[in-house]
Amino acid sequence: MPPFLLTSPRLVTCDPARATAADPLGVLDEGAVLVDGPRIAGVGPRAELLARHPDVRVVAAPGVVTPGLCDAHTHAPWMGSRDGEYALRMAGAGYEAIAAAGGGIVATRRAVQAAAREAIAADLAARLGRMASLGVTTVEAKSGYGLDEASERKQLEAVAEVAPRAGMPRLVPTFLALHALPPEAGGDRAGYAARVAVEALPHLAADGLMRFVDVYVDRSAFSVAEARPVLERARTLGLGVRIHAGQFADVGGVELAASLEAASADHLEHVGAAGIEAMARAGVRAVLLPAASFTLRQDPPPVAALRAAGVSLVVASDANPGTAPTESLPLALSLAVRGYGLSVAEALLGATREAAASLGLGGTTGVLRAGLAADLAIWDLPHENALVQPWGVSRALATIRDGEVLAGALPWRR
Ligand code: NIG
Ligand code: FE
Repeated sequence: MPPFLLTSPRLVTCDPARATAADPLGVLDEGAVLVDGPRIAGVGPRAELLARHPDVRVVAAPGVVTPGLCDAHTHAPWMGSRDGEYALRMAGAGYEAIAAAGGGIVATRRAVQAAAREAIAADLAARLGRMASLGVTTVEAKSGYGLDEASERKQLEAVAEVAPRAGMPRLVPTFLALHALPPEAGGDRAGYAARVAVEALPHLAADGLMRFVDVYVDRSAFSVAEARPVLERARTLGLGVRIHAGQFADVGGVELAASLEAASADHLEHVGAAGIEAMARAGVRAVLLPAASFTLRQDPPPVAALRAAGVSLVVASDANPGTAPTESLPLALSLAVRGYGLSVAEALLGATREAAASLGLGGTTGVLRAGLAADLAIWDLPHENALVQPWGVSRALATIRDGEVLAGALPWRR
């Protein structure tokens, strides 16, 4: 695509260099972004950029423009549906009871095992296309429904297969190494975890199938002792670490994450004061997943304490067929503001700049600034406050990744 100037009545840059206490989002009224190939070549007042580039094509956005959204926690390469389980849950069954009855993660595992890699890739590509139509340009995608090396590989290879296709958001693959115990492990959590650390993890890493390793540490999942060797091995392999922690109980997962300088600790509904302090000290970001706690009818995580400790807040969809049956990051933002008490600015930064930073993409995307990727969302909305309501409809007019349109259409003017 030839260079173009995207103008907006309200350009939300999310650039810390433009932010002030009164304007944490660094908003430019009547702003413009010069897009040249895959990069942003300039950001500034509309009149100034128009005068400086009189011959360039103009795209006049009718509403707010933000960085493309970044969904830093998804289980995107899943198969099948757990709608029956959802009905049971709504009738009162608990997550742990559903899992104990053979539902939950292991149910999705059966669907993943039964599917060919090509089928997983096809479902994933369709899902990612729908995410792009919601303004999303970067998606972290976890495996974790295979529960054996071959099936985990199949999920990660589906992610790798889809990543270079036209129209896809930027993908960040994560090996969710410990998610649930497969029935064939015969109840031996420690043995299973030890095998993952010395077999599946190094094998899959050797093939370049992941950038991060994640583990689920909780009272009905894995313990700190079981998870530690996996995450330590990940660090020695040069991989980033993320952790599902404190969703049902604080069993020390967050302290483990902090000791390994993890990129993020995610969920955190039950994280305690010591964990929060450890996160703050080690610079571990908090990934908040309000769609999951909404489904599970849980109280929010201690957001005020995380904020007060200076922990950076990320908001993600947790897209999965069980606890967060949604593909919508905008819905997660709505729930973060309505249910968790985040300001709109906190939520939006948590789905742009902070999310990108948590994925090691801080110098790449998440902010509108010259030199970064031209990842943009054009909204049919007058103000960023409108992003978190109305609910349930997509108000993204167009989504641009690396200067190319992923979804929607650009309103050319000149
Ligand atoms: O992030 N907490 C564990 N894992 C997922 C749930 C996955 C599932 O139920 O399929 C989560 O909520
Ligand atoms: Fe999750």
